[in-house]
Amino acid sequence: MKLPHDNMIEISFRLNGKPVSLQINPWDSALAVLRDNLGLTGTKEGCGIGECGACTILVDGLAVDSCLMLGAQLEGRDVETIEGLGTGEILHPIQEKFLSHGAVQCGFCTPGMIMSAKSLLEGNAKADKKDIVEALSGNLCRCTGYVQIVEAVEDAAKEISEATESGRNRS
Ligand code: FES
Ligand code: FES
Repeated sequence: MKLPHDNMIEISFRLNGKPVSLQINPWDSALAVLRDNLGLTGTKEGCGIGECGACTILVDGLAVDSCLMLGAQLEGRDVETIEGLGTGEILHPIQEKFLSHGAVQCGFCTPGMIMSAKSLLEGNAKADKKDIVEALSGNLCRCTGYVQIVEAVEDAAKEISEATESGRNRS
C-alpha cells in the first residue's frame, strides 16, 4: 500500500486471478471498491451490516462479508468474486446446479450463496447436508425457502467429489 495522496490510497491485490492496482478512499468498504471502483456489480449489497451474506466474496479462499471489510484490507490478498466463476457459456458446477435445481428466483442472494458454497467445497468436496447448511447459514434468501439451494450444493459437491476421485484414479 502506498502513502496517502489527496486522501486516496493505492492498493494492489489479485482479483479473479489477475493483478489489479487502484486508488481508493481509505474509508471505502471492499464491497464499494469492487462495485463502484471496479464495476463488478455481481457482488450485491443487501443489509450493509454483515447480516445477509449478499456481499460474500472469497479472500484467500475464505468466504467473507465484503461490506464489513475495508477496501484497504484487500491489499496483497487473493480475491474472488462471482465474476471469476464460469464464462457465461461454461458455468462453474455450482452455478450449473443452481440452475438445474431451480435454486435461483430473484437472484439477489445467488452470488453470495455460490461464493460461500465454493469456499466450502474447495475445502471439503465431501461436504454433507449438515456442512452445507452450516456454511450457508450466513446467507439469507427471501425467495426460495433454501431447499433447492441446499440440494444444488449437495449435487455440486457430489459432482466435484466424483471428478476429483476420477482425476486421482487416472493419475
Ligand atoms: S450486504 Fe454484507 S452482509 Fe449484507
Ligand atoms: S433468490 Fe431471491 S433472495 Fe434468494
